[in-house]
Parts: sequence; structure tokens; C-alpha cells
Amino acid sequence: MTDQHHSSDQPRRPSAGDSVSDSRLVEAHSHLARDKEEPKEGFSLLPIVVVFIFCGFGFWAGLYLTRNAAGFSPSAFDLNAPREVANDGPKAFEPDLAKGEKLFLQQCASCHQANGLGVPGAFPPLANSAWVKGSEDRIIKIVLAGIAGEIEVNGMKYNGNMPNIGAGLKDAQVANIVSYVRSAWGNHADPVMDTKVAEIRKAIGSRGQYSPKEILEQHPLETK
Ligand code: HEC
Repeated sequence: MTDQHHSSDQPRRPSAGDSVSDSRLVEAHSHLARDKEEPKEGFSLLPIVVVFIFCGFGFWAGLYLTRNAAGFSPSAFDLNAPREVANDGPKAFEPDLAKGEKLFLQQCASCHQANGLGVPGAFPPLANSAWVKGSEDRIIKIVLAGIAGEIEVNGMKYNGNMPNIGAGLKDAQVANIVSYVRSAWGNHADPVMDTKVAEIRKAIGSRGQYSPKEILEQHPLETK
């Protein structure tokens, strides 16, 4: 092991009878010494550039935070939390149809379709549906608890199963969705407040899906 080392990368030590002279060794040393970079005075360029980039980044981050930190409020990440207006306290809830539409597309459109027309034979329409218009309690209950069993909508019979989508949503989200559904595709019913959703959520507790029969007993379809 040591022998190998010796013979490959290290100059052999001069020993008695060796032909390597001191002067050759000194020459080899000075060669090696010359190959090293000359030490310089002052700063070299690269670290200064890096420092400038770093400062620039810090400056940009400061600007970014100033503009986007929303007062470092933890509710900044909750799109449905009431917005604080400077010194005005939280704003009262206002049904937001744009948010409602976005949530509808995420939560409901896979079945009822983006145009609210549903899928014949499978998912009933929400457009022009008597179940949607009129009583707000009825549609809120359907969204909170789900509905399953034979149902008739716009003269067509369905027998499907809608899960309790609203159970996983906030009151304000449900209110926005329902307000949107009640105003889209030619529906003209009043918007719904988050307090109403909270009230109904509390009243029905966590329960199984409604059957169309049960919900009609509580909230018969209005006749225009
Ligand atoms: C997984 C599919 C599915 C999703 C998602 C879904 N629904 Fe339904 N929905 C149904 C089915 C199926 C029925 C009919 C149930 C039956 O046959 O008893 C129904 C019925 C309804 C009704 C009563 C009948 C009518 O057409 O007016 C309303 C109102 C309603 N859904 C609203 C919503 C809203 C609002 C959402 C989103 C929060 C939603 N649904 C999400 C499948 C779904």
C-alpha cells in the first residue's frame, strides 16, 4: 500500500546512492510553487456580484411582502373569510356570485354541468328547477345533507344520489354557491346569507341524505 503510493504520486525520497540531486528537487518544487495562483490584494469580482444580487433579492422580497402581506393577517389565505377594512372591523357577508360560480364549477358542475342543465336520466337540471327557486331552506338542506331517491324535476324522473357536498364547505361558501345557482341560467331567486346557512346547518345537525319525499313534506314546491 505505502509502497504503491510512493512509486506513483510522490517523489521518492533521495537515499544513499540515488542519482536524484538536491538541485533537481529544488527545481521541481519551484515549478509546483509557480503553478499556484498569485495571491491578490482587495476583493475578487465574483463575491461582490453575488452580494449585489443578494441585496437586490432582499430589496425585491421587501417590496413583494409590503404589497402582498395583507397586514400579515392569518385570514389572508382564507378566500372566504370576511375582509378587514382599515379600522372598520370585519365587513358583513355579501353574497359573491363570482366566488359562487367558481365554487359551483368545482363542487357541482361535474354532475349538474356548467350550464346547469344536468345530464338527462342521470343528473337533474338546476336551470329553471322549482327545487332551486322559492324556499331557500330547501336548496340549502339539499346542499348540506345531500339527497337520494326518486325525484321529479321539470317533468323528468331521476333516481340518483347526491352526496352531502355542503358538509365539507364553509357557511359562506355554501351561501355563495346557492346564491349563484339561484341567479344563473335564467333563475331569479333571492341570494342567501351565510347566517342562514349556519342556522340550517345547526338545526339539521349531521344527518343522512334527505329523500325527495321528506324534503317536500318540509318545503313543498311553490306553485307560481
Ligand atoms: C355527484 C353528483 C352531484 C354533485 C357533485 C352535486 N349534485 Fe346535486 N344532485 C345530484 C343528483 C343525482 C340529484 C338528484 C337526487 C335524487 O335523484 O334524489 C341532485 C339534486 C339536486 C337538487 C334538487 C333537484 C334539482 O335538480 O333542482 C339541487 C337543488 C342540487 N342537486 C344542487 C346541487 C348543488 C348546488 C351542488 C353543488 C354544491 C350539487 N347539487 C352537487 C347529483 C349531484
